[in-house]
Amino acid sequence: MARAIRKRSWAEPFKIKVVEPLQLTSREERQKALAKAGYNTFLLPSRLVYIDLLTDSGTSAMSDWQWAGMMLGDEAYAGSRNFEHLQAVVRKHYGYKHVIPTHQGRGAEHLLSRSLIDPGDYVPGNMYFTTTRLHQELAGAKFVDVIIDDAHDPKSQHPFKGNIDLDKLRTLIRKVGAERIPYISVAGTVNMAGGQPISMQNLKEVRAIAQRYGIPIYLDATRLAENAYFIQQREPGHQSKSIAEIVKSLCSLSDGCTMSAKKDSLVNIGGFLATNDRKLHEEACNLVVVYEGLHTYGGLAGRDMEAMARGIVESFQDDHIRARIGQVEYLGHRLIEEKIPIVLPIGGHAIFLDAKRFYRHLPQDSFPAQTLAAELYLESGIRSMERGIASAGRNPETGEHYRPRLELTRLTIPRRVYTQAHMDVTAEAVCATYDRRREVKGLRMVYEPRYLRFFRARFKPL
Ligand code: F0G
Repeated sequence: MARAIRKRSWAEPFKIKVVEPLQLTSREERQKALAKAGYNTFLLPSRLVYIDLLTDSGTSAMSDWQWAGMMLGDEAYAGSRNFEHLQAVVRKHYGYKHVIPTHQGRGAEHLLSRSLIDPGDYVPGNMYFTTTRLHQELAGAKFVDVIIDDAHDPKSQHPFKGNIDLDKLRTLIRKVGAERIPYISVAGTVNMAGGQPISMQNLKEVRAIAQRYGIPIYLDATRLAENAYFIQQREPGHQSKSIAEIVKSLCSLSDGCTMSAKKDSLVNIGGFLATNDRKLHEEACNLVVVYEGLHTYGGLAGRDMEAMARGIVESFQDDHIRARIGQVEYLGHRLIEEKIPIVLPIGGHAIFLDAKRFYRHLPQDSFPAQTLAAELYLESGIRSMERGIASAGRNPETGEHYRPRLELTRLTIPRRVYTQAHMDVTAEAVCATYDRRREVKGLRMVYEPRYLRFFRARFKPL
């Protein structure tokens, strides 16, 4: 008898060679730890965390090929072989001429912002990212969000919520003048919008506008390989292209990028600034020796650059990306089945719980997303991260809270680290937290650091 056609599952394209034991704690221990950490998951010691979904940054498992590369570290102060390898790999895969390593993404953001921005400038971008915007502001610019409105709506099913609203961009250029816009800042899979991609078509249109006015485009390539996957899956005409080809096309529509290699590139530390602009390269070389290290190591050891070069190669393998995003989608679908409010469509690196709908009774001033991260930890030992009003910080001119429409708690999935069973346990813990939602009263902030407050802010229950 003919077998009915059945769905074929994907599986991870690797097997596990080294394991690290996980720690279980009691509810009492977690209650104490949470109070000591000021209800901020960033302040919890990781030894008291069971499944760590704080971030996908620097938390990936490296491959045996990357670890083998670590032994080939050329720890010369200048001109290390590993720098040459890294430079060749970035040129090949991202297509830019000049490469400057940095210790991580914000190191590259610092160099870019300081080199290109003059006080009083405006930097348009597809939604802010915390460190990116802060470096732009510290260099004297004002960040202007030109992402499409759908990005601010957790229920919108737009397939490319990372797109730039071309009218918003044109309006800004007309209002302030192209000479006040040093570059357009375009992120692949927009983190704060829920890991949402930008389409190839949209970037082409942004490029056309930028060229008309002579404005460069700098990509935040941190999760560009993940963005390429969504283009391959969703955008007509790209189904038969490889992730590597799509990334190369995206980069060809820009002048350079900043990169946090701690995400896509599967390393625990590292980043780079890349550009086709000789003048920017020269200026960034001047700055990197002041703030990071020589222009051929940028704050990294030779072995770190080798692991990064190899990680970049692995990050473009189609079966890797499919399994990586497949795992995020697996968790997302489990939560959707349970009617948990999450940001749709499911993004590339994380599931974002919609804390506004999770805790309908809590106003934004009582930090619903921060509260949810604390409650999930208390329930299960699972660590997540606030991406709402605490992360948004304050407007440097008015001192008022930025009030983002999105009030989210992020369950971020490290690459190649957890199994499907961990995703099941996570989904069950979120459901248990949801069932207790009405008992929860929210938080107030009792300590607020000056910059990037979410990292070290402290809270107390209301
Ligand atoms: N750009 C994006 C889109 C990021 O997500 C990050 C970091 C950075 C730049 C800065 O890179 O941390 O290497 O200095 N995101 C981490 C996160 C912190 O958890 O989302 P970095």
